Amino acid sequence: MLLTNEEKGMLSGKQGKAVQKSMEILTALGEIFGADKFVPVNSVQIAGVSYHNLGDAGLEFLEDMARNGKVRVKTMLNPAGMDLENWKVLGIPEDFADKQMKVINVFRKLGVNITCTCTPYLVGYNPKKGEHIAWSESSAVCFSNSVLGARTNREGGPSALASAITGRTPFYGLHLDANRAPKITVDVQAKVMGEDWFGALALAIGKQTKEKIPFIRGVRKASLEELKSFSASFPTYSGAAMFHMEGITPEKVSVPSEKVVVTRKDVEDAIRFLNDDCQVDFVSLGCPHCSLQEMERIASLLKGKKVQKETWITTSREVKKLAVSKGLSKIIEASGAKIVADTCLAVAPLKGRFKAIATNSAKGCYYGRGSNGFKTRFMSLEECIKEAVRRC
Ligand code: F3S
Repeated sequence: MLLTNEEKGMLSGKQGKAVQKSMEILTALGEIFGADKFVPVNSVQIAGVSYHNLGDAGLEFLEDMARNGKVRVKTMLNPAGMDLENWKVLGIPEDFADKQMKVINVFRKLGVNITCTCTPYLVGYNPKKGEHIAWSESSAVCFSNSVLGARTNREGGPSALASAITGRTPFYGLHLDANRAPKITVDVQAKVMGEDWFGALALAIGKQTKEKIPFIRGVRKASLEELKSFSASFPTYSGAAMFHMEGITPEKVSVPSEKVVVTRKDVEDAIRFLNDDCQVDFVSLGCPHCSLQEMERIASLLKGKKVQKETWITTSREVKKLAVSKGLSKIIEASGAKIVADTCLAVAPLKGRFKAIATNSAKGCYYGRGSNGFKTRFMSLEECIKEAVRRC
């Protein structure tokens, strides 16, 4: 790789061990993927924050980097393994909480913003079209590439941290025009509305397009929440990290000649695939983390009602603060539902606590099944609330 003088200095160790180790990680990555240079990044999102996934070895690696390292670009975190303030009411074991706080404190020492969210684009991290970033979480990566037109590969925890410490990422993959070009056209012949249907549509498309980046036509309009859901489901059920959607993705591309059609039946089949025959004992909304608009909808549906089963509304701490200031939290919490910040069903230690989950997230079903062994019921946000308040 061709390094600038500054990058050579970083690699030589003159700027400290953490910078040197970071450059070594990034150079090795660049060489594996055939990058010929580095590109500066404006923001970094680090995943692998939950102690559940990191373990002691991950914590030691972070502590080592934090001994003499600091991030040099805007850097934030993906969800952690628990609500950092209200972990006790969620039934998180004390020893897990201790370790998780150690992880968070190391990130603090490194100068990372403790956002703990998979929707950084809802809390002030809005990269512009063409901007190079190094983000980690698959839905945020997909949203930033496909909806905002920013450029990022899906980084692993160590490579994202290395980018934060050096302000660089190897110039390969989705940073390059050629690798962002769609390879297959998808004609959507179904009217799709709602976060759940957009998640199911993404699954139906991903099943057909596999690792090819699609050019999707036929989706007339989509709300931010629908695109958030689509961006979470698409990389979960396909092998691609981004999509192009006509009228949404802000990049001009040629329409690929290879073509597939996705019908209403395909979307209904995807919905059937996400539904098991089961009795729900856990309702989870907020995968990806709820927007303020979703919090408003949930509050209006829960007003004056009581939930009959454990119900988590996961969101970012920033959105939670807004929900508190607008009186939404009071309404939601009066129902018995829990507003859970900083974490989510995929990274909290939930295995064995519940049997079956109701969610409006196609991605949530994947992780509910895969990480936690839950059966899943997939339904709209409104139906999830009905399920939460329904007496068994
Ligand atoms: Fe976010 Fe967790 Fe879902 S990271 S996209 S809420 S699985």
